[in-house]
Amino acid sequence: MEIGDGSGMDARQLKVEAARAALAHVSSGMRLGIGTGTTADEFVRLLAEKVATGLGIIGVPTSERTAALCRELGVPLSTLEETPELDLTIDGADEIDPALTLIKGGGGALLREKIVAAASQRMIVIADQSKMVETLGRFPLPIEVNKFGLRATEIAVGAAAASLGLAGPVTLRMTGGQPFVTDGGHFILDASFGRIPDTRALSNALFAIPGVVEHGLFIGLASTAVIAGGDGIQTVHAARKPGSSIDHDVA
Ligand code: A5P
Repeated sequence: MEIGDGSGMDARQLKVEAARAALAHVSSGMRLGIGTGTTADEFVRLLAEKVATGLGIIGVPTSERTAALCRELGVPLSTLEETPELDLTIDGADEIDPALTLIKGGGGALLREKIVAAASQRMIVIADQSKMVETLGRFPLPIEVNKFGLRATEIAVGAAAASLGLAGPVTLRMTGGQPFVTDGGHFILDASFGRIPDTRALSNALFAIPGVVEHGLFIGLASTAVIAGGDGIQTVHAARKPGSSIDHDVA
């Protein structure tokens, strides 16, 4: 599929280029969080090639799916129990705003992805340029919820959104005619609220609901975004302190 950026590269090639650029940040001895999704899969394939030629890392996967791919390709794995502090996590995203706040969870792995990212000194998000937005919310926000009290939680999510002036369908994620079940044994609600001007307020409102296990807003976790587009790789660094500027450079 062409993504119409004039480069002639298709979406998969752009994911590969972002993954390749992020791999330059990986060095021997690192404890690495490894993300989930089609972009993270490309990273795992490139990482496996480096491991085969001597790169010594240990990886903590963010999903059973990623763990299976790593095992298949010979990437050495650990768990957060064995390796609770990580140097770097590399993962994809569904949307990225200019402050590097993310929407994640399109692949259903948001809970483990957030736990792994939070256990890492740095998180690099890799994506093609179609994921960059001015304001988050075009992509439905995944909300991981306990199976118990699903309907009550769904109503509470709608009410929390309404209190912030947000509205839109909240739907239970399905797969093969059954509710999608996460690696943690929970359900996912996809909330189509549209633009989310205040991500922190929505995060707080969602966490106040007992049935909400986690949500896909990643605030203050990504330190760098490596974005592949027709003009090459753009590296965006998050501001170190709220209010300070964001560096943009095109490599
Ligand atoms: C997985 O739960 C997600 O957070 C993914 O990282 C995100 O959906 C990006 O996936 P793709 O790289 O497949 O677009």
